[in-house]
Amino acid sequence: MLGISIWCTNLNLSSRSLAIVLIVTLALVYFSYSFNACLLASISRTLQQSNLRNLLSLTTPPQSQDKTIALNGSSTSSSSSSTTNRDGSESFFSNSTSDGASPKYQLLRQQGLRPLRNLPSTLIIGVKKSGTRALLEFIRLHPDVRAAGSEVHFFDRHYQRGLRWYRHHMPYTIEGQITMEKTPSYFVTKEVPQRVHHMNVSTKLLIVVRDPVTRAISDYTQAASKKADMKRFEQLAFVNGSYSVVDTNWGPVKIGVYARYLERWLLYFPLSQLLFISGERLIMDPAYEIGRVQDFLGLKRVVTEKHFYFNATKGFPCLFKSEARSTPHCLGKTKGRNHPHIDPNAIERLREFYRPFNNKFYQLTGINFAWP
Ligand code: A3P
Repeated sequence: MLGISIWCTNLNLSSRSLAIVLIVTLALVYFSYSFNACLLASISRTLQQSNLRNLLSLTTPPQSQDKTIALNGSSTSSSSSSTTNRDGSESFFSNSTSDGASPKYQLLRQQGLRPLRNLPSTLIIGVKKSGTRALLEFIRLHPDVRAAGSEVHFFDRHYQRGLRWYRHHMPYTIEGQITMEKTPSYFVTKEVPQRVHHMNVSTKLLIVVRDPVTRAISDYTQAASKKADMKRFEQLAFVNGSYSVVDTNWGPVKIGVYARYLERWLLYFPLSQLLFISGERLIMDPAYEIGRVQDFLGLKRVVTEKHFYFNATKGFPCLFKSEARSTPHCLGKTKGRNHPHIDPNAIERLREFYRPFNNKFYQLTGINFAWP
């Protein structure tokens, strides 16, 4: 102000002119202050809204993963707000999974991590009734493994729906986590090896195998539990009521010819991408088999014997969800069923039938499973 008055004096301005200059200066200062204040308020409001959006997206209740998907792979759900990225993965944005509500994911977002849905890099492809569910439940104890909850059957039943549909059934993962899926019928379905290869040539394949005779009985037991008037196992496993000719067209028998199916997979994948898990050992020593799986997947050995205990009532190993031995959990009652009594002569005949196929399988895998 002093400067202005000196300047005015120097210019010999009248006191009226001086007053005008003063008023104009004050007006300019006032307008500039108001403008800046408005600008700051607007920036701060925008920031607040964006934070709130993030928070809302993480606390909105989850929706079912099984929402309707159009055949072209686009989601028909209006509430999903995930987006597809250029690499084909799908970004986590809002309420399309229960993950969204979990504090873990809120924390991840606060740390600037972006959970994505990715296609699986590892598949449990079979074999049905060999312990595939146990394997999945055990390996998913690992914090770096995330798996689709139910069997997706993409490569055998829903292939025409496309990879986008498949990816949408995968859980959200963050960098460093493995996406996994289990559908045991993949192992025996003719078209599947080529289709998996087409998705990703580096897919890692986990295969649980068990003595094919026990496996056939387990398969039969499951089928019989759903059908009251099922014939006896012995009647179905052999042709013409005698034990001389094995019915190789009967599913429970056919699936046990592992070598035949494995040969198809080996046309598309090197043995180094396949890991065979002994179904028998998965029961006797789950920590050992899970150790092998973690090594194969390049994971730190986090799941150890501390996670397992033998449940005498169930007659099978059950698990603790954490090393701290909290939340004991056994597989459901459809796993570990009592098998019906089968004529020992029928069992012996089946063993004889499988022997050459088993030997072929040992030769292909380089592992002697020592089935009787
Ligand atoms: P049974 O029910 O005939 O005994 P899948 O999950 O591939 O369908 O395999 C089912 C089989 O897994 C069961 O067959 C059971 O023998 C075996 N299994 C392995 N570990 C198990 C566990 N910890 N609890 C229950 N069943 C287990």
